[in-house]
Amino acid sequence: MSSLEAKIDRQKLPRHIAIIMDGNGRWAQEKGQDRLYGHFHGVESVRDIVEGCAELGVGYLTLYAFSTENWDRPANEVNGLMELLVDTIRKEVETLNRNNIRLDVIGDTAMLPEYAQQELREALDMTAANTGLRLVMALSYSSRWEMVEAVKKIAVDVQQGLLQPADIDQAVLSKYLCTSEFPDPELMIRTSGEYRISNFLLYQLAYAELYFTNVRWPDFRKENLYEAILDYQQRERRFGKTSAQVQEAPL
Ligand code: IPE
Ligand code: IPE
Ligand code: MG
Repeated sequence: MSSLEAKIDRQKLPRHIAIIMDGNGRWAQEKGQDRLYGHFHGVESVRDIVEGCAELGVGYLTLYAFSTENWDRPANEVNGLMELLVDTIRKEVETLNRNNIRLDVIGDTAMLPEYAQQELREALDMTAANTGLRLVMALSYSSRWEMVEAVKKIAVDVQQGLLQPADIDQAVLSKYLCTSEFPDPELMIRTSGEYRISNFLLYQLAYAELYFTNVRWPDFRKENLYEAILDYQQRERRFGKTSAQVQEAPL
């Protein structure tokens, strides 16, 4: 066990970690390579971080892999990313099963090419019975898309008399989001030195601790994850209360 890993308090692990995996393109370009080369190497980081989370006993890991807005990138990058996605899923399903990891997907997957949708469906089915880490891939995902979808579904249910407007509260709204099966993330990590949320889990991150690092995603490894978790464990989460209140009755 590394010295950083040993410092982590296992009783205070974030139950759900969300990561904006950013910086693949710059990492590649700094090496004089094509952006896709960066995405390709980013898969190594995904493997390492999934393994790290599973080893620690983190319950949920959500990875922002492709945003709604990323569809507007040059066609060769989008196509390359889709192929990489399918190829990676095909290769990794066995490892996921061996490690009892269940794959989930959030996002507008109907936008994905048919071959990618099929590969995803198979991977979801093949890992559905696993009871360990839940690995949630945000694919063709954006919060604003998700919220619009939720509002449409709520409107339909109200129209059909299944739901009364007066009964809509935060718990009900959460059920209409793609993340209805998952607790809100306690820790959100963004790599590569950008200090923004970029349409990721806007509702769910309301009280998440945010951690930003300059490390580019293809260089991000377990040790960097441990640093982020240790930083998280130093924070006092107050949820609107005062520090004294939180110390009297820890949440
Ligand atoms: C993140 O890396 C991966 C995706 C958005 C698919 P980027 O591709 O955004 O890399 P930079 O930010 O341009 O360096
Ligand atoms: C966010 O990164 C999306 C993913 C990591 C999948 P972007 O690189 O697309 O975000 P912006 O454009 O810098 O905000
Ligand atoms: Mg980026």
